[in-house]
Amino acid sequence: MRSHYCGELNEAHIGQEVTLCGWVHRRRDHGGVIFIDLRDRDGLTQVVVDPDTEEAFATADKSRSEYVLQIKGLVRPRPEGTTNANMPTGMIEVLGKEVTVLNASETPPFPLDEHVKVGEDVRLKYRYVDLRRPEMLEKLRFRSRMTHTIRNYLDEQGFLDIETPILTRATPEGARDYLVPSRTHAGSFFALPQSPQLFKQLLMVSGMDRYYQIAKCFRDEDLRADRQPEFTQIDIEASFVTDKEIMGLAEGMTKKLFKEVLDVDLGDFPHMPYAEAMSRFGSDKPDLRIPLEMVDMGDLMAQVDFKVFSGPATDPKGRVAALRVPGGAALSRKQIDEYTKFVGIYGAKGLAWIKVNDRSAGLDGLQSPIVKFMENVIDDVLDRVDAQDGDIIFFGADSTKVVNEALGALRCKLGEDLNLYTCEWAPLWVVDFPMFEENSDGSLTALHHPFTSPACSAEELEANPEAALSVAYDIVLNGTELGGGSIRIHDQKMQQAVFRTLNISEEEQQEKFGFLLDALKFGAPPHGGLAFGLDRLVMLMTDSQSIREVIAFPKTQSAGCVMTAAPGEVSAEQLKELNIRLRQKIAPTESED
Ligand code: AMO
Ligand code: AMP
Repeated sequence: MRSHYCGELNEAHIGQEVTLCGWVHRRRDHGGVIFIDLRDRDGLTQVVVDPDTEEAFATADKSRSEYVLQIKGLVRPRPEGTTNANMPTGMIEVLGKEVTVLNASETPPFPLDEHVKVGEDVRLKYRYVDLRRPEMLEKLRFRSRMTHTIRNYLDEQGFLDIETPILTRATPEGARDYLVPSRTHAGSFFALPQSPQLFKQLLMVSGMDRYYQIAKCFRDEDLRADRQPEFTQIDIEASFVTDKEIMGLAEGMTKKLFKEVLDVDLGDFPHMPYAEAMSRFGSDKPDLRIPLEMVDMGDLMAQVDFKVFSGPATDPKGRVAALRVPGGAALSRKQIDEYTKFVGIYGAKGLAWIKVNDRSAGLDGLQSPIVKFMENVIDDVLDRVDAQDGDIIFFGADSTKVVNEALGALRCKLGEDLNLYTCEWAPLWVVDFPMFEENSDGSLTALHHPFTSPACSAEELEANPEAALSVAYDIVLNGTELGGGSIRIHDQKMQQAVFRTLNISEEEQQEKFGFLLDALKFGAPPHGGLAFGLDRLVMLMTDSQSIREVIAFPKTQSAGCVMTAAPGEVSAEQLKELNIRLRQKIAPTESED
């Protein structure tokens, strides 16, 4: 139906007869001449229709925004003074000779360039209109280029693209499952996969050697800007590999992606042990673009006469840490109060601070609500953070968890508010994760998943599980966890030691993962892998605020789809067939976005 895309025309096409198809982006009537900006996936072309082509003129005249037109015409240079150097097609226009309405359109729910004024729910309800916006098209095109590059890279490295089931059993990634009732097995349910984890391990047992899949994963968890109930992983697994080899492969893929798609050289990724990341940045996904660091003050604060500080300083589960912010002495009381409120979200009971106005003036040069309690250690405190005139030093004192979360988040907020970023991209590997984390009741859960290989023997693991590290690694970019993985347990005895430590009974093991435990008995090779969150990667690379911006049809914050009104009710008949009876209907409590 067309000879060219609207966006591809330029001066080289001058003099050619072309046929374009697209949507009316804008229509203007300039004293008898009609201008139509015709838009398609590739861009816009200005079409001019003169009254002397009567039929074409009449059709152009009645066309409205978002009508679908076919236009035949002649490419010609724009008259002097009307060219637009900012537009790829800005040097030419098409003199329209034949205009056909392929389809009319009702007035769209929002003009494409006024999407900001409508709420996200309106954009999502009419997502097909929202996706016509060039930025949205560009994001999806970008995403497609990325998956193309990824597939090429993994194909070149000998990986096989293998699909795994969507209707399956629960996979242990720590979120709630989406369940699907079975009609043929009354009273039984499938779970949608939280990841292809178990199947990719089974593919290794089956000798596939190198597997990848761009896989849909489903997790019923609390949603945030970087989480969706249904999202996509670049899922990778290989046999006879070390953790270094898998990290090298994933790093190579990320570098290639940035080079090919953004022309950015990422350089080699630093490796940082988990314990160091927590201590310096209060986070296992530190944003290394921000130069601020947390500094331990426990030993000094143990000596002060201020319970708020000396308490956590002498508690093995407590932490007192400082965060020096160069230039921060300029913050107003109001701003400090706002930051105090901000850390409160993470459970901090306050945010103590010292402004260093003039260090040479001793105590007189400091301004602070707490310095009076710490005169005995103040010089050491200032020395330890290398305080300079003009700094503010913030302090957190609480359980280690609260201090890390509160000061870790404050660090990122200050980085953003004061624009402290030192570079555009800061990737790293976080390694040497603990094998387990402690729940509030003292029981243990696997920090990654229970198939992760410990870095010690089964005996050492059971003797001292809290101290055990795992052979797991996370890839972090600009403070976002992009992906994670591990070397897996391929030995049944080790697997059972882990289950025992997690207090998962033999019965439960058999019930949940019997098939995997069986497979480990039939010649499982050493293997490992990782999975990237594709949506997060696209979000970062397109500088988007949320992963919803890079998914064609995302769910809202309350995990629904306003366009299709999913999830929806089903008929009594369908329920009966599935052997399901509903309890009294419970009104939804959560509000939409
Ligand atoms: P993990 O649970 O760390 O590991 O997930 C891997 C990556 O997937 C992305 N991700 C998400 N993205 C959007 N919305 C979500 N709800 C969501 N949850 C996770 C993140 C994360 O880093 N099977 C293991 C991988 C392995 O060990 O090989 C797994 O799924 O970017
Ligand atoms: P107060 O004695 O409660 O008025 O607190 C004195 C200063 O210490 C204030 O600036 C508080 O914000 C701060 N503060 C109180 N509790 C904590 C805490 N747990 N961690 C850090 N600062 C705190």
